[in-house]
Amino acid sequence: MRLKDKVALITGAGSGMGASIAETYAREGAKVGVLDMQEDAARKVAGEIGRNAIAIRCDLVKRAEIDAAVAATIKAFGGIDILVNNAGISHVNKPVLDVAEDDFDRVFDVNVKGLFMMTQAVIPHLRKAGGGSIINIGSTAGLRPRPGLSAYSATKGAVHNLTKTLAVELAPDKIRVTAIAPVATETPLLPTFLGNAPGQRDKFVATVPLGRLAQPQDIANMALFLATAEAEFVTGNIVEVDGGRCV
Ligand SMILES: NC(=O)c1ccc[n+]([C@@H]2O[C@H](COP(=O)([O-])OP(=O)(O)OC[C@H]3O[C@@H](n4cnc5c(N)ncnc54)[C@H](O)[C@@H]3O)[C@@H](O)[C@H]2O)c1
Repeated sequence: MRLKDKVALITGAGSGMGASIAETYAREGAKVGVLDMQEDAARKVAGEIGRNAIAIRCDLVKRAEIDAAVAATIKAFGGIDILVNNAGISHVNKPVLDVAEDDFDRVFDVNVKGLFMMTQAVIPHLRKAGGGSIINIGSTAGLRPRPGLSAYSATKGAVHNLTKTLAVELAPDKIRVTAIAPVATETPLLPTFLGNAPGQRDKFVATVPLGRLAQPQDIANMALFLATAEAEFVTGNIVEVDGGRCV
């Protein structure tokens, strides 16, 4: 068991890759806080994992809810060793002039400000634990942006930069900060990225050298490695899990 006795808080864990990360961590011995703004979804994932998981309802744009979520994790499991900032949203794939101010504000509020506030709330607990691992879910959109996802891609660029900034700032505390940049992944969010034009999916797959989209488990496998002691000398990296798309 590669995460025996570790405690992980995973945001957006009621769906998609967050759920897969929660299940994978629990299978490897971690206790997991399954955080999502959709309470039913968080309960379902936590219920399937069993007694080593708790469901936490939290909207990451609200500081008080973040503080309560962190407190609930500490109360249940006694500390935090790993934070996975996975929750994220996007505007629908569309031309930049069609991205409304509300779209822009909402994606930055969740993907950047929410991630920032959650990280601030958890750092004191990682320090108390003598170190830890923060894993941010970025995107290939933040490394090799394509048309139609302007504001979303900008949020992921910010996530990648924040990852590097915090990696150097928190290294003296033995807190490692890394990011994963997934390519298009089979989750409920996927249609938002691909847009409605016919044939989009096949066109996209054709640009991935390994010839398929990512599965949530592909991302969970990397999130597992980055959380373990095997990655103790790895920090500040943006790790593509993309079948070679960004080459
Ligand atoms: N699916 C893809 O193709 C893809 C590719 C690259 C990166 N990503 C990133 O991966 C991460 C996970 O995405 P996914 O595809 O699994 O999506 P998903 O929609 O399946 O899951 C995201 C979860 O985050 C939760 N969430 C959204 N806003 C929240 C908020 N304010 N507070 C709390 N929870 C909130 C949602 O309720 C949902 O359960 C996101 O950061 C996304 O940007 C996805």
